[in-house]
Amino acid sequence: MPRIIVENSSPLRGTVRISGAKNAVLPIIAASLLSNDKCILDDVPMLDDVEVMCEVLVSLGADIKRISSGRIEVNSRDIDNYEAPYELVRRMRASFLVIGPMLARMGEARISLPGGCAIGTRPIDLHLKGFSAMGAEINFGHGYIEARADRLRGERIYLDFPSVGATENIMMAAALADGRTVIENAAEEPEIVDLANFINKMGGNVKGAGTDTIKIEGVDELTGANHTVIPDRIEAGTYMVAGAITNGDIIVENIVTNHLMPVIAKLREAGVFVEEVPSGLRVYAPERVNSIDIKTLPYPGFPTDMQAQMMALTSVAQGTSVFIETVFDNRFMHVNELRRMGANIKIDGRSAVIQGVPKLTGARVKATDLRAGAALILAGLVADGITEINETHHIDRGYIDIEKKFQNLGAKVYRI
Ligand code: UD1
Repeated sequence: MPRIIVENSSPLRGTVRISGAKNAVLPIIAASLLSNDKCILDDVPMLDDVEVMCEVLVSLGADIKRISSGRIEVNSRDIDNYEAPYELVRRMRASFLVIGPMLARMGEARISLPGGCAIGTRPIDLHLKGFSAMGAEINFGHGYIEARADRLRGERIYLDFPSVGATENIMMAAALADGRTVIENAAEEPEIVDLANFINKMGGNVKGAGTDTIKIEGVDELTGANHTVIPDRIEAGTYMVAGAITNGDIIVENIVTNHLMPVIAKLREAGVFVEEVPSGLRVYAPERVNSIDIKTLPYPGFPTDMQAQMMALTSVAQGTSVFIETVFDNRFMHVNELRRMGANIKIDGRSAVIQGVPKLTGARVKATDLRAGAALILAGLVADGITEINETHHIDRGYIDIEKKFQNLGAKVYRI
């Protein structure tokens, strides 16, 4: 099995270009199912998760061409299958995002119940409640969900929790529904705005994305569109923490500063300098950062996808930090691995208390999920000795060229 080896690499210096956002491109590829025409997508990170989403579309009958690095063409004209199989959906939970567009375009979808990162129970009840409210008939059996509707009808839908996936799935379904759908308590993440922009480029009518009320006026058909995916704010945040933890001085390029405000605010509170420069953000840090408290929340709150990386940073901060994870119910699996590297962290339910230590030590550890894996690389950058990270496939789900990008910053990060 491949492993990632990390050696102490302080301080990092140089520039890193951030790729297109995984969590934006996945729903956008799914939304290409809404049209009979070709869609051209740019700045597509060819990550494992993106490959899986492409395979799901191909299994439904779509034709996907990789035109050049970062550019793909999706043609969903010849969709002839309603079923997304277990073998693909189990590899990535976000495959479930095809159900909304399939239902809207084909009137039918059959999808295996999703798998994905093992970060707590991740139900899909909000997606299904939305489709039911719009007139779909939903049935379960043999590990599959079947949804049917001659034509979905617009409805007012209140989400109990501002779920990113449910907001996206309902928004895509509503784009071709009969009449107006209003999603209340909608997720406000930048990736939702990117999806809405894409649907509008296809001729859709989505208003209010980025606020908690999204209004979608259904149209009879959507056309093809060209779209460049927004930069990945979580990849950017991860490299910013790398600059901070190594007492480094780096520039992250191709970012949207506004999307990073929750992360920038916490880094600054920790004593890290974050400055806007013409090409992006410069991040430089004192030798040892200060402790900070973090509570994860839906956007614009602090992102749960940056919690593990910030925990690596506070593991070596001066003082005690308290983290509260409110979005997922089992997202502290990195704690055991960080402890193996000498971190002093206690967990009580959804809270973690991190007593900063002056030094971590390299160890054999495993990536338990995508962001946990990133946190271990960050810890390895400042640990004495060698850190060997196993189960690296989790990391490849969300970080493109990770060793190369770290090496360009002067880090000793290799894959063996
Ligand atoms: C998306 C992101 C993921 C991020 C998460 C929260 C993608 C591909 N993934 O995941 O990286 O960590 O947002 O920012 O964009 N929930 C329900 N019922 C539902 C749906 C969700 O109870 O029907 C709960 C989940 O169990 C979880 C919370 O809502 O506790 C947040 O989930 P959600 O916002 O849906 O996350 P994802 O879309 O799966």
